[in-house]
Amino acid sequence: MKRFYLTTAIDYVNGKAHIGHAYEKILTDVIARHYKKCSDKLFFLTGTDEHGIKIQKTAAERGITPKELCDENANSFKETWKELGINYNKFIRTTDDYHEKAVQLIFKKLLEKGDIYKNSYTGLYCQGCECFLSEKDLTEDGLCPDHLKKPEKVSEENYFFKLTKYKDAIIKHIKENPDFIVPSFRAGEVLNQLEDIQDISVSRSISNVTWGIPVLEDPEQVIYVWIDALSNYITGLGYNPEGSSEDFNEYWPANLHVIGKDILKFHSIYWLAILMALDLPLPKQILAHGWITIDETKMSKSLGNVIAPTDILNNFELENADALRYYMATAAPLGKDGNYSDVDFKEKVNAHLANSMGNLLNRTLSMLVKYFDGEIKPEFKPDENILNIAKNTIDRVKYHFDRYETQEAGQAIMTLVDATNKFVTDNAPWTLAKEEKMIECGSVLRTVLDVMCIVAYLIEPFCPNISKGMAEQLSYDLNKKYDELSLDNIKDGKLIEKEQIKPVFLRIDSEFADKTKK
Ligand code: ME8
Ligand code: MG
Repeated sequence: MKRFYLTTAIDYVNGKAHIGHAYEKILTDVIARHYKKCSDKLFFLTGTDEHGIKIQKTAAERGITPKELCDENANSFKETWKELGINYNKFIRTTDDYHEKAVQLIFKKLLEKGDIYKNSYTGLYCQGCECFLSEKDLTEDGLCPDHLKKPEKVSEENYFFKLTKYKDAIIKHIKENPDFIVPSFRAGEVLNQLEDIQDISVSRSISNVTWGIPVLEDPEQVIYVWIDALSNYITGLGYNPEGSSEDFNEYWPANLHVIGKDILKFHSIYWLAILMALDLPLPKQILAHGWITIDETKMSKSLGNVIAPTDILNNFELENADALRYYMATAAPLGKDGNYSDVDFKEKVNAHLANSMGNLLNRTLSMLVKYFDGEIKPEFKPDENILNIAKNTIDRVKYHFDRYETQEAGQAIMTLVDATNKFVTDNAPWTLAKEEKMIECGSVLRTVLDVMCIVAYLIEPFCPNISKGMAEQLSYDLNKKYDELSLDNIKDGKLIEKEQIKPVFLRIDSEFADKTKK
């Protein structure tokens, strides 16, 4: 029985979803939809990270309670993911009751084991990062490199987690499992960070932070950030030190945690140590994706260039998120930064989804109706050469998804579409029809339609709506596993009526992108 469990980072709820958050959720959803075709059972977890000083402060500034702020923004995240077609199995909020209770017991267990201890601590605390920074993390001017703010000196009694106890075991794990960190070029970075790790503070005094999960036997302290946040990956399945759920036993360890490169350290070091301390198996892989920039600049509130995914859908008057999903999932090579621009978005999706892919299906079906009244004759034989290219594409797409290379997987599909377009141009079925070479003409059309069934199947993780539209017009059943794919897809007989033919993706003709160009 093949099962697959994957997760995203859980987003801070002190604001709404922007396209950086959307990028990660789309990437994960595209991977999930592919793996669903290759496994018997799949579980996809996402959610929101709701505790901490930032939420407490933002809520105070707005004159509402932290919980009210969390509810408002968690709902907004959920709505956005719905609009983007993010097909998660479960949405966890770290303020969920079952999560809070499990985290308290996790903390208790580590305390009893001696892996958590109390100590006093003075350090430089960055509120943006919600963590202590060391001098060498700072910029030349003594600022947090991510938030460009001066960290405060904070001194208090805290609980500490014995990260150092697990240092050697983590180094060993990373060295022995070269596939553990994806892409592997980031493993060296993590091994460097491991060189001088210290035990980490895992609680705050309520004199500084009140919005957190209280330590069970010490209500003067709240558990903050990493033990709370990282544990979502197991509590979301129903882990509890006092007895776990069936889902947990079935799905843990995770196959894949998808996260941004900025939080790789926490996932490949802290999270492993916590799991080792809990005597739980380790996740198989961690995928650290790059940043999405806007017009080649970092998104930031102060620059005022933060874009919400829903803005893009609205500005271009898109019916669904397929175009944005396709654009995002193919925006960058694995682990590298990618860029969003309105102009580029419009050009790319018009070229790929409308002109190349959509039109190919549309004109082929139109010719089938024009020359054969929509009927496929048994004498129409598909072109072996093109079917071979389709077969290789199936293997290539799988190959790339096995490595989470969504950009290359998307490119492989478009390469097949291009080859098929070229096949149509080279064979000119309209000329064949004029010359009354009807079997040759029909064979060209059947070839294209057989291939388009494969394209509809392969494009589904990226563009589920377009895929469905294609499959309907091809009378093709998408509901099959990857290894059930066949090249012989179009049945003999009537395929379609004229009225049933419709474009699967309308070109974006909104003037929006042209306006923003100026
Ligand atoms: O880090 N491009 O939350 P977060 C690509 N709560 N990805 C981006 C991005 C951008 N411009 N901006 C953010 C947190 N992300 C913690 C995670 S997990 C147990 C706790 C990604 O809201 C970022 O890398 O700051 C992270 O993976 C996710 O969005 C949430 O970021
Ligand atoms: Mg962040």
